[in-house]
Amino acid sequence: MTDTAHPDPAHPDPAHPDPTLPLGGTISMPHGGDIPRLGLGLFRAGSGSGTENAVRWALDLGIRHFDTASMYGNEEELGRAVRASGIPRERVFVTSKLWNDDHGRGPAHRALEESLQRLDLGWIDLYLIHFPVPGLRRESWGVLEEALEEGLVRAIGVSNYMEHHLRELLDYASILPAVNQIELHPFNARTRHGVTDFCRRRGVVVQAYSPLTKAQRLDDPVVGEIARERGRTPAQILIRYGLEKGWVTLPKSSNRERIRENADVVDWSLSEEEMERLDELDEGLAVTWDPTHAP
Ligand SMILES: NC(=O)c1ccc[n+]([C@@H]2O[C@H](COP(=O)([O-])OP(=O)(O)OC[C@H]3O[C@@H](n4cnc5c(N)ncnc54)[C@H](OP(=O)(O)O)[C@@H]3O)[C@@H](O)[C@H]2O)c1
Repeated sequence: MTDTAHPDPAHPDPAHPDPTLPLGGTISMPHGGDIPRLGLGLFRAGSGSGTENAVRWALDLGIRHFDTASMYGNEEELGRAVRASGIPRERVFVTSKLWNDDHGRGPAHRALEESLQRLDLGWIDLYLIHFPVPGLRRESWGVLEEALEEGLVRAIGVSNYMEHHLRELLDYASILPAVNQIELHPFNARTRHGVTDFCRRRGVVVQAYSPLTKAQRLDDPVVGEIARERGRTPAQILIRYGLEKGWVTLPKSSNRERIRENADVVDWSLSEEEMERLDELDEGLAVTWDPTHAP
């Protein structure tokens, strides 16, 4: 069926140039399929109506990509909100992740099955190994490859993998990871250039998590100055920075106004000079767990 046969029922905004496309556009993934460049992070989005409302508000704005994990405890709420939206399932992109306690053949199979059941959306668009837990991650990757072949998931990837974790994975993987999801923002992008460049050279899509530094650097003077000059907010500058870098970016908010603010990042850009000023802010910051020296 064509897109025009399915006008999007959840997109009331006439300013959106093409309501059949995800806000911000998409990037092609190495084993097929497209991933929307702008997603909504759902860590600590709240149980029950917290997550459901956030997903509904984001869908209304044209956001079609949602990032959850079994560890976040809100897969059921995400699935309910997507089903209730009336948007065709294939138009929404849902990521979930294998938690650290679930590595190894049997546990990984069970964990994936449970995530599929909780989401109740038929399939998972992208399933990631959440952290490079030593020991059983090779076995777990085999389970993800099988799940891809069986069609339970439409893409597989990793998260918090640094260059040495990726090199190890490439030694035994039959299927390349489509995505590596890591913490990225101006305060660590230079430090992490090695891993992002490694991904770029191999066609692995880079996803930026904690793009707003968990709100820890929103008051940075340089970010503030660029925001004032542009008539934008610091959060918008940080999100736009990730899009300019070619990453998929996953800002989290469960506040309706801030979700709207964070979505208003697609019809303008930062100059090269502004990007350089932001690059200069690198301080090797990790607001989440830092996997750099993890075995
Ligand atoms: N793979 C992993 O290991 C991993 C690790 C961390 C995160 N993630 C993913 O990445 C997503 C985003 O990362 P994150 O949740 O760590 O942090 P983040 O997106 O960098 O920051 C979220 C924080 O910023 C606040 N915020 C959002 N928009 C704002 C705005 N416009 N102005 C001021 N404050 C704003 C949010 O509060 P309100 O909600 O109140 O607006 C929240 O406190 C997660 O939700 C998750 O999906 C993955």
